[in-house]
Amino acid sequence: MRDLELTPRLQLLADWVPHGARLADVGTDHAYLPVWLCLHGRVVSAIACDLREGPLARARETGRTWGTESIVYRLGNGLAVVSPEEADTIVIAGMGGENIAAILAQASWTADGTHTLLLQPQTRAEVLRGFLADNGYAIRREALAEDRGILYPVMEVRGGKMFLTLGQRHGGAALLQDPLGERYIIEKIIRLQSAVAGINRSGGGREKGDELREILTALLSQREEWRCANGL
Ligand SMILES: C[S@@+](CC[C@H](N)C(=O)[O-])C[C@H]1O[C@@H](n2cnc3c(N)ncnc32)[C@H](O)[C@@H]1O
Repeated sequence: MRDLELTPRLQLLADWVPHGARLADVGTDHAYLPVWLCLHGRVVSAIACDLREGPLARARETGRTWGTESIVYRLGNGLAVVSPEEADTIVIAGMGGENIAAILAQASWTADGTHTLLLQPQTRAEVLRGFLADNGYAIRREALAEDRGILYPVMEVRGGKMFLTLGQRHGGAALLQDPLGERYIIEKIIRLQSAVAGINRSGGGREKGDELREILTALLSQREEWRCANGL
């Protein structure tokens, strides 16, 4: 039988799931990740959860197609359908940073230091990094996956203490060794520069303009740090 192929983004997450994990995949949609992990004997149990019936039906269908009968499927909001003892590794991927932060805020046991969280925000990663720093979590490693030209940050997180500068919140907590780190920062700088130019053109939003310029300055020095760390 041919192998289930993951996208580079899901493959990076799969590579970071510890061998023998008891997995919960929140917002599983097609359940490609838990199915792949089961097929490769990488997890001892897997719960695939989703907020909506449609994605959960797709998840069951993938499980049936690939013959991974051991996966447990649950319908519900975030981690409300998973108890702390059932999983030691929790993946929340492919949704906005604010949504991931809201799911963690409603399950404070995820900061108890015994659970490994693998988080992959599609948007607003800076909101998620800020939430983690302010709520007793520490990013242990971070890397970028490139998928069809788009860079996606992936974070391994545990309960703990962490301080992040403004540049790290926006440009990555631990991306100084990542070969794609500079590109990630530059793309953010370009987006911010165009937002600042828009505000300048419209002649309004002085406070917003100041806030964006502060982030821009922080990102420019984050880029310098990346270059120094990489001998440039
Ligand atoms: C774009 S898919 C991502 C699928 C997969 N995790 C991935 O990374 O490819 C996002 C999924 O998250 C689900 N979702 C969004 N908010 C959720 C929540 N609060 N609890 C559970 N699932 C949620 C959506 O229904 C959708 O199926």
